[in-house]
Amino acid sequence: MRVYAVIFMLAVVPAFVVGDTPANCTYEDVAGEWIFEVSGYGGDNKIDCTKPGPVTYKLHVQLLFPDVAVDVQYGTKGFWTLIYNQGFEVVLNNRKYFAFSEYTQQGSQVTMNCSQTLPGWSHNVIGSDWACYVGSKVGPSKVHTVRKERRPDFSQMMYRNDKKMVEKINRAQKSWNATIYPEHEMYTVEDMRRRAGAMNGLGSSRPAPAIVTNQAKRAASSLPPGFDWRNVNGGQNFVSPVRNQASCGSCYAFGSLAMLESRLRIATNNSIQLVFSTQDVVSCSEYSQGCEGGFPYLVAGKYAEDFGVVEESCYPYEGTDISCSKEKAGCRRYYATNYNYVGGFYGGCKEELMRAQLVKNGPLAVSFMVYDDFMAYSGGIYHHTGVKNENLKFNPFEITNHVVLVVGYGVEAGSGEKFWIVKNSWGADWGEEGYFRIRRGTDECAIESIAVEAFPIYP
Ligand SMILES: *[C@@H]1O[C@H](CO)[C@@H](O)[C@H](O)[C@H]1NC(C)=O
Ligand SMILES: *[C@@H]1O[C@H](CO)[C@@H](O)[C@H](O)[C@H]1NC(C)=O
Ligand SMILES: *[C@@H]1O[C@H](CO)[C@@H](O)[C@H](O)[C@H]1NC(C)=O
Ligand SMILES: *[C@@H]1O[C@H](CO)[C@@H](O)[C@H](O)[C@H]1NC(C)=O
Repeated sequence: MRVYAVIFMLAVVPAFVVGDTPANCTYEDVAGEWIFEVSGYGGDNKIDCTKPGPVTYKLHVQLLFPDVAVDVQYGTKGFWTLIYNQGFEVVLNNRKYFAFSEYTQQGSQVTMNCSQTLPGWSHNVIGSDWACYVGSKVGPSKVHTVRKERRPDFSQMMYRNDKKMVEKINRAQKSWNATIYPEHEMYTVEDMRRRAGAMNGLGSSRPAPAIVTNQAKRAASSLPPGFDWRNVNGGQNFVSPVRNQASCGSCYAFGSLAMLESRLRIATNNSIQLVFSTQDVVSCSEYSQGCEGGFPYLVAGKYAEDFGVVEESCYPYEGTDISCSKEKAGCRRYYATNYNYVGGFYGGCKEELMRAQLVKNGPLAVSFMVYDDFMAYSGGIYHHTGVKNENLKFNPFEITNHVVLVVGYGVEAGSGEKFWIVKNSWGADWGEEGYFRIRRGTDECAIESIAVEAFPIYP
């Protein structure tokens, strides 16, 4: 994987490679004026952008609030969005541009220059003409240097359940139940971290939230009080079976492909029921970091649009960073299009909009923060309790950013508590037959901050 190659090249201590990319660029860092130096038009999607060639064109672009990109030379307007804190995508003059933000790592020190991108990919909207580019922001640049804490490394220690944590959670509240999952003790602390998402916490880099228009409010008010894609019109199920990601940080691939699987079932009234290969994404996508994480916008969306996905039987899941297998290229590829953040851009997500898009188009891939109490969830409507697993006190379970699939919502009879119905990828024995419910309407654990949708192309 080329993104990996970049990380390893720069990493003096390879063991330090954690999470998604270490870039942590905010909306304020990125909005403004940029020069994109484009090289090598006329390529196809096999183009290698790790070593961009001579510059053939300079695009001067202004990124304005909230999602407007302007070609400074010609005055044409397009679109842009931040992709969490990792980079940004611009769509302008019939071309798309995506790159990760620039960073370097030296030992425990990460230096990121949010005014610069790593080499990225540009192609025309139909994907027939690819080029590479590097972006630099005009004007004074802000460089963040972050020194990662050097904690003693207990990541290879076996994970240990905490009975007391479970008892405390169950005493503290009645809305959800915790239990002991003995199988969790088969994993190391590091495995559990990857299982929970691999990526660092959510929510810090959002621009000011968008205002929910009255129109969106009206659209949401006409929706049913409850909805579940597993049970539509008295029993039709449009959701593919629950899977298990094991100890690889591939939740983003499972959440993303589960959305495409389900939306394909919806589009074809269940006459096409495919399961897509998460290993293909883990091993072959340069838009994500294999078992170390990734984002649905770049997988269900960009990877599925630019490269397509294959069926599970073509490239079965192994749950490790095995290198991309070229002979798999012979398998039929399935594509998606019109990927977007609910609300239009990162920062625009709202509960009302999520419900409207869910009912209209199908399940949504969402991210949320996993704390250690969540690992013990066995049923009910989850909210974060703050109770910690004391057996991990030498290596507190870091907040991670996990990707899952929202398939429905409802209101609990009796308590009146509102919830989302969510498909996880920890096997069918976890939670409520592989699913969980979580508080709705309060952005619990940031679950209403970054919903993504994409539309599979009918094969
Ligand atoms: C950060 O990027 C900007 C834009 O390319 C550049 O002008 C600046 O010199 C870079 N800063 C550092 C410290 O590399
Ligand atoms: C990213 O930066 C924000 C401040 O801009 C900070 O609050 C947050 O903790 C940082 N996140 C990571 C993962 O470093
Ligand atoms: C969809 O499939 C169901 C179950 O097979 C069937 O009852 C229904 O008529 C179909 N709907 C359409 C629009 O074809
Ligand atoms: C918790 O478990 C108890 C005992 O099995 C059950 O009666 C109760 O309904 C559960 N509560 C929730 C919120 O699932």
